[in-house]
Amino acid sequence: MSIQTNRNKTITLTKQEKDKFRTKLIKLKSVKKEINPILNKIINQDYFDAVKKLPKNFIDLAFIDPPYNLRKSYNGDIFKEMSSEKYTKWVREWIKLLIPLLKENASIYICGDWRTSSMLHTVCVEEGLHVLNRITFARDKGRGSTKFWKNNSEDIWFFTKSNKYYFNADAVKTKKKVIAPYRNEGKPKDWVEGENGNYRLTFPSNVWFDTEDSTDLWGDITIPFWSMSENTPHPTQKPEKLLAKIILASSKENDVVFDGFSGVGTTGVVAKKLNRNFVMIEKDEEYSMYGLKRLELADSNKKIQGYKDGYFWERNANLN
Ligand SMILES: C[S@@+](CC[C@H](N)C(=O)[O-])C[C@H]1O[C@@H](n2cnc3c(N)ncnc32)[C@H](O)[C@@H]1O
Repeated sequence: MSIQTNRNKTITLTKQEKDKFRTKLIKLKSVKKEINPILNKIINQDYFDAVKKLPKNFIDLAFIDPPYNLRKSYNGDIFKEMSSEKYTKWVREWIKLLIPLLKENASIYICGDWRTSSMLHTVCVEEGLHVLNRITFARDKGRGSTKFWKNNSEDIWFFTKSNKYYFNADAVKTKKKVIAPYRNEGKPKDWVEGENGNYRLTFPSNVWFDTEDSTDLWGDITIPFWSMSENTPHPTQKPEKLLAKIILASSKENDVVFDGFSGVGTTGVVAKKLNRNFVMIEKDEEYSMYGLKRLELADSNKKIQGYKDGYFWERNANLN
């Protein structure tokens, strides 16, 4: 029992920390003409109110992980399941408000589950965004069923505002162990002889895995749990590694990354670790304070689990 307790790395907030962080959260009262005063801040406010007070044309990359159309408690604030028409209207409303804030060459990633994914595609295309990919994030856990297949994947749609956009595939290559090293005239074919083993650098695909024992594909994005130092009490926290892939591929250093439903701040934390700027909006005060604590921790620790020396590493690759 005590061993488990010691290994629990979940981030907590003391009363003193809450008192300190509360004063650092901001609320927008008037329309801002410039982004600089609110760069690298968490706006603790309702999206629909805050976003109308932000300047136009400042976002290089937006990552949006909204409440899915399910009954879910966010720190006691219940997001209620709606009819699909009502949820579609709600989604369209925040997308319409987001678009003017995007730069012409911006990229937008939007998360959804299987029930809402096709609607996200339809609404975004109707609102004029360009579709680049549907990324499938296959999660390890899901609620089992005897009546139909267990649903354990989510979608992350990759859109751009125009056909001029930035994408750096070289920044998100995976270092994979070579199991069957093929040689052509004695020379390695498409792989490298490393001091600690042979490896291959592969291009990322649109299928991402959250799994304990992934040995192939582009796996290995673990949903935060109690023994990971990025874990918080948020019920739907996204993994830092997932954000790292998106931020590295679709933004440059010093760009502005935006998240309108930022929870415990994963987007901003990873943006900071990768030398990008961020603006985040989250309506729950406590989640916003967790975000600030994680940002403070990132001052002294820029590590992102699974990402090292410019590469994503397969679990158990041991190619250090
Ligand atoms: C799916 S979670 C995002 C989790 C986040 N990606 C992370 O890694 O922490 C959605 C968040 O949206 C927040 N939220 C819901 N409605 C909101 C609104 N109208 N304005 C701002 N935040 C809202 C919830 O409190 C919740 O934390």
